[in-house]
Amino acid sequence: PLVSMKEMLIHAKENHYAVGQFNINNLEFTQAILQAAQEENSPVILGVSEGAARYMGGFKLIVTMVKELMETYKVTVPVAIHLDHGPSLEMCVQAIHAGFTSVMFDGSHYPLEKNIELTKRVVEVAHAVGVSVEAELGRIGGQEDDLSVEDADAMYAIPAECDQLVRETGVDCFAPALGSVHGPYKGEPRLGFDRMKEVKELTGVPLVLHGGTGIPTKDIQKAISLGTAKINVNTESQISATKAVRDALSAKPKEYDPRKFLGPAREAIKDTVKGKMREFGSSGKA
Ligand code: G3H
Ligand code: ZN
Repeated sequence: PLVSMKEMLIHAKENHYAVGQFNINNLEFTQAILQAAQEENSPVILGVSEGAARYMGGFKLIVTMVKELMETYKVTVPVAIHLDHGPSLEMCVQAIHAGFTSVMFDGSHYPLEKNIELTKRVVEVAHAVGVSVEAELGRIGGQEDDLSVEDADAMYAIPAECDQLVRETGVDCFAPALGSVHGPYKGEPRLGFDRMKEVKELTGVPLVLHGGTGIPTKDIQKAISLGTAKINVNTESQISATKAVRDALSAKPKEYDPRKFLGPAREAIKDTVKGKMREFGSSGKA
């Protein structure tokens, strides 16, 4: 069924695994991720950025597409449709209105008080209709769609501020920026595990790890042991999809039927997502 992230993430935190948020970019991504979740018997969060929503034709089309596919595939595992890095209260409201079951309000570029004030308003609207909310503090580096943060501007979240934001807003889960990066890492990721532990102890809510692409398994396991219950992955699925397209086209340079290279891309995404579900421990938890 289509559900919010709330129960999924509480269960994940209590049982020491993480639910993957896999971003969708088109029909094939959506098909692949839903099939992977059902075959792995895993809960799943479909992440939709504002840019991806615009590319696909808007929030309503996405909700309709997801619902239809869930029916076609007889999906029984819990699925959340989640606005990723929602840039404004208005955008969050639009997503909720279209049927999204979860939203992230990303006020991380605002001063703390302003971030809290806006997040609180998103929570009021969302909780009134059973939609879950994620917030962010600090700044996650790297690039994803329209969102780009220079290395020099990337910032680690401050635990006392995280505590204040979570307490005053009532968010369901929380993403403290602790050194993770959107897109490929330059060298080994250096995650702030000491702060993660502090944030876990202070806030008590399930934590979210953005920039899940390229984080070694030992760090994934450590993050989960320190309260991380949701891990976002986008780039890794994109890389495997695009590699499959390149391989298919270079094997048959005269190919012109899109299904002949998008089909393999879909299979590649599915394999990647299944691998992540096993790594995060969400397989078999639906
Ligand atoms: O919000 C989405 C994620 O944080 C994706 O990060 O593209 O590095 O996997 P990634
Ligand atoms: Zn992110």
